[in-house]
This record gives sequence, structure tokens and C-alpha cells, in this order.
Amino acid sequence: MLTPGMGAVSTTFMAGVELVRRGESVPVGSLTQLGTIRLGKRTEGRVPKIKDFVPLAKLDDLVFGGWDVFPDDAYQAAVKAGVLESKDLDKVQKFLKSIKPMKAAFDQTYVKNLQGTHVKKGKTKYDLAEQIRQDIRDFKKKNKLDRLVMVWCASTEVFLKPEAVHQDLVSFEKAMKANHPAIAPSMLYAWAAISEGVPFANGAPNLTVDIPALEEFAKSKNVPIGGKDFKTGQTLMKTVLAPAFKARMLGLNGWFSTNILGNRDGEVLDDPGSFKTKEESKLGALEYILQPSIYPDLYKKIHHKVRINYYPPRGDNKEGWDNIDIFGWLGYPMQIKVDFLCRDSILAAPIVLDLALFFDLAQRAGMRGIQEWLSFYFKSPMCARELYPEHDLFIQSMKLKNTLRWIKGEDLITHLGAEYYD
Ligand SMILES: NC(=O)c1ccc[n+]([C@@H]2O[C@H](COP(=O)([O-])OP(=O)(O)OC[C@H]3O[C@@H](n4cnc5c(N)ncnc54)[C@H](O)[C@@H]3O)[C@@H](O)[C@H]2O)c1
Repeated sequence: MLTPGMGAVSTTFMAGVELVRRGESVPVGSLTQLGTIRLGKRTEGRVPKIKDFVPLAKLDDLVFGGWDVFPDDAYQAAVKAGVLESKDLDKVQKFLKSIKPMKAAFDQTYVKNLQGTHVKKGKTKYDLAEQIRQDIRDFKKKNKLDRLVMVWCASTEVFLKPEAVHQDLVSFEKAMKANHPAIAPSMLYAWAAISEGVPFANGAPNLTVDIPALEEFAKSKNVPIGGKDFKTGQTLMKTVLAPAFKARMLGLNGWFSTNILGNRDGEVLDDPGSFKTKEESKLGALEYILQPSIYPDLYKKIHHKVRINYYPPRGDNKEGWDNIDIFGWLGYPMQIKVDFLCRDSILAAPIVLDLALFFDLAQRAGMRGIQEWLSFYFKSPMCARELYPEHDLFIQSMKLKNTLRWIKGEDLITHLGAEYYD
């Protein structure tokens, strides 16, 4: 289980898995560990746990590794991140200390508010990517592993748009060799992972693997890929509430979302370039869910604003406020306020685990390229070019579970249910 980035999310994930393995905690928030799946008719009473239904890797078999621009081991990084309390960290101190980051492929041009010292040297971006490939091979050999998965848990990079060099693999590799500015460090990790046959999931909103060149490459190497941006707090709520308004044909005038957070992620997002990447990711959901062109009376004039404010005293304990202006019968206005006092990495850690296990499963099930069925976990889900992304959390959840049924040759569940009344 390889994570570029060993910061708050990644170390909270590693510590949590180890505490669960030792029986010290329950994997709350993890569908792969706690979720069940209904099979067949409602009268059959077949509801196995997902982990007993599909052959997921066992937590005991996971080995962790990562890269970071700081040399801190996972224990030091977790202490600095300040997410977990010492009563939890102390129990897994030795374990976390044994996870030391490999040197990062990093360039401050892409993450303005970070100054890294623990970084690789190379003449070209291609050289750096080849070094990541070597790291992957060494990690696999040293730990005697059968399979690997990579989940990007590193900082959000500046906003990049797809360009000509992203359109096909030949141009992409040429651009890596020419140090083209459109090739961000995250793309080097993704390219290296795919080259080594390792599934790659992107937990940040960076463009990274969401480009035709890497999609084509992933397909040709039978590697599952996906992203972008873990769907954890505010967007999770948005993709629950907006489908409810639409289902009831309630109108929406505006949605103002603001956040205060004080972790390193917040500091990185204080840079306008990185914020722009996050903003695009957070803004997409409403348009796709509400479909203003199909429902102009309800959704044609939505004022949607997203703000993120770096406010150090809060640390990882983000506060996300939403003011939602809706309207009902005869256009009468109403308001909903949501104040989510969440913990960013506590929400993200189980997603990292689920993604790792499901991406590994996908590869063994012969699935390759974009894994749209895992949109459930992402704020900006990747999908086939001719499609629009599905953001509604409940459609995503049905799609995920139906995909598991399909993998195992079980009947898909349509929720029709007419047979119960024949
Ligand atoms: N926690 C959440 O709820 C949540 C939700 C969605 C997305 N994310 C994203 O997940 C990512 C991780 O979040 P976090 O809170 O752990 O942030 P963090 O700042 O604590 O950790 C990120 C780490 O990545 C390292 N890094 C940066 N560039 C790197 C590179 N090129 N190679 C290797 N390491 C690199 C940084 O040094 C840092 O230690 C961020 O991009 C964040 O936007 C988090």
C-alpha cells in the first residue's frame, strides 16, 4: 500500500489500520470492513459482509510505504499532523516509526506553500519517474509482496488544464523527457505506478491521471485508475442534500459553502493556484446533480460559492458551513444551514483503505482503466469522456454494490420489487 504523501491523511490511515489489526479499534467509516450487501430477493435474507462476499485483501496482509518531501517517519509526521491523540499514537509508535518515507519527486512550482528537503534529484522528469519505478520494485522485493496499490495522499497541486502533451502516451513521455511544465510531479507517480502494473487512485483534485495519455496507458497495461479528490465532509453533505431537493422538485437559488481549517492541507490551499484546483473540484457536483438545463424553473440561476480559509487554531478539525437558499410551492423561499464540525483526516482515512482494497480487487477481477463504480469515494469522479460524472451519493452507492454483485455473478438489484405483489 503505497502513498505519495505521508501527511495527516496517510498517517491517520496507517495508524488506524494497525489499531484495528490489534483489536484496539473498530474500522468506523470503512465500507469494505463494516458494510454488508444484500443478495437476491428481500425474502431470502442473504446479507453477507462485503469482505466475506468478495475476496478483498486482509488487513493483516497490508504493508505500508510512501514518499514525502519531509524525512519524518510516520510517527513523527502523525504527531506533527496532530490528528490522533497520544493515547492512540503511543500504542502504535514502534510500528509507525518503522515506516520511513522515500524521497519525493517534488517541484515547488506545483505546490507553492511547501518547501521540501527530502527530494529526488534528476536531470529530467522522466529520470525522476524512473526513480519512482525503482522505489516501487525495491519496496515490492524487500517486503516480498504479491501485489501493490498506490493512493495519492500528497498535497493539492496548482490548477492545470489538459494540454496537447496529455493527449497520448508518446507525447506525454516526450514531454517528461523535455521537462515540459504541464507535467506535474503527481503525474510522474501515476505514470510510474501504471508502468509497474500498480493501480492508482488520486485522493487530491490534481489533474494527475485524468488525462487521455494515462488512461490509454492504464488500459494497455491492465491497470485500474481513478480519482479525483476524496469525498469527505462538505461535498459528502452536498451530494446527499442536493439529490433530495431534486427528487422532491424543490428549487435552489444559492448555495454558499465556507470552510475554516488549519492543517498543512489548509496552508497549501491558501495558495490561489492550489485553491483553484480544489474549488473546481468542489463546484462541479451541484451542476451535475441538479441538471439546470433539464429543470430551468428550479435550477437555472444558482449562486454557488465555495471558500476555504486557512485558520491555524483549528488544525485538522475543519468547520464547514453551508447556507442553502431553496424555494418551494409558489416560489416561497426557505433556508437550510449546515454546520459540519468535522475531522478531515478521520473522514478520509477509511476512504484510503477502501480504495486500496477495491482497486486491488478490480485488478484481480480483470477491470482496467477508469473505475467509475468507485465514484462513491470522490468529489470529482473520473468517467468515460462521452459521459458526465455521477455525483449523487446514493446512485454511486447502488452502482458500487451492483458492480460487486456483477463481479460475483449475482443478480443485480433494480429495486423494482413487483414480484412481491404478484
Ligand atoms: N482530509 C480530507 O478530508 C481530504 C479530502 C479530500 C482530499 N484531500 C486531499 O488529500 C491530500 C492529503 O491531505 P492531508 O491533510 O494529508 O495533507 P498533508 O499536507 O498533511 O499531507 C500531504 C503530504 O504530502 C507531501 N507532499 C507534497 N507533495 C509531494 C510530492 N510531490 N511527493 C510526495 N509527497 C508530497 C507533503 O509534504 C505532506 O506531508 C491533500 O491533497 C488533500 O487536499 C483530503
